[in-house]
Amino acid sequence: MITLAFDVYGTLIDTQGVVEALREVVGEQADELARAWREKQLEYSFRRGLMQYYVDFATCTAQALDYCCQARGISLSSADRQALLDGYGTLPAFEDVPEALCSLETAGVRLFAFSNGTREAVEGLLGHAGIRQHFLDVVSVDELRSFKPNPAVYCHFLRRAGATGEASWLISGNPFDVIGARAAGMHAAWVRRGAAVFDPWGIEPDLTVGDLGELADYLSGIDHSRQPPSKGK
Ligand code: LAC
Repeated sequence: MITLAFDVYGTLIDTQGVVEALREVVGEQADELARAWREKQLEYSFRRGLMQYYVDFATCTAQALDYCCQARGISLSSADRQALLDGYGTLPAFEDVPEALCSLETAGVRLFAFSNGTREAVEGLLGHAGIRQHFLDVVSVDELRSFKPNPAVYCHFLRRAGATGEASWLISGNPFDVIGARAAGMHAAWVRRGAAVFDPWGIEPDLTVGDLGELADYLSGIDHSRQPPSKGK
């Protein structure tokens, strides 16, 4: 029985929804600021994981927003700042997600959400996006007080999901996450949304897809009573 660990932000959930909220506050800087905000949010999670100086992902997100605004001389009102942070909790799912999750469930695949976000944040986000019902559980790195791509968090996922690395796939739009999972002994599919580039580390995804519909087509065609095959890019 194949087990899938779905990354959340940028894989299931479209963080582009933040841009529209930002545009109302900062105008044409919104696109660049949204990208910088996401990069700084992840940088903070990497640094805190390495330092073993944990705060939850929502705090990384808030501090990243504060840094990016300060670096651009943008002064947000506390109401605008809170509205932007609240907006992170009500982002939409990508259009391809609901149907693909239904297909995978029908094919007998075990589905989990696996995120840097706390269980509470992810439960709320998936519930608001109308897709929580597809997942057997939500596994958060918060349970270990560390972040992806610490190998311990992938091992923790396998324990929590009652799965082995050989029969489990991480599904993520984030190359660092795919590389982390592969290095920790899981299979991994990269959901290449847009013009993203994969890091030239020599650790490749087992599968690269353009959306979750492609993933469902591929994995639904597998005999789930056997180990999943690996398929290059
Ligand atoms: C997550 C971030 C890394 O959901 O996308 O874990």
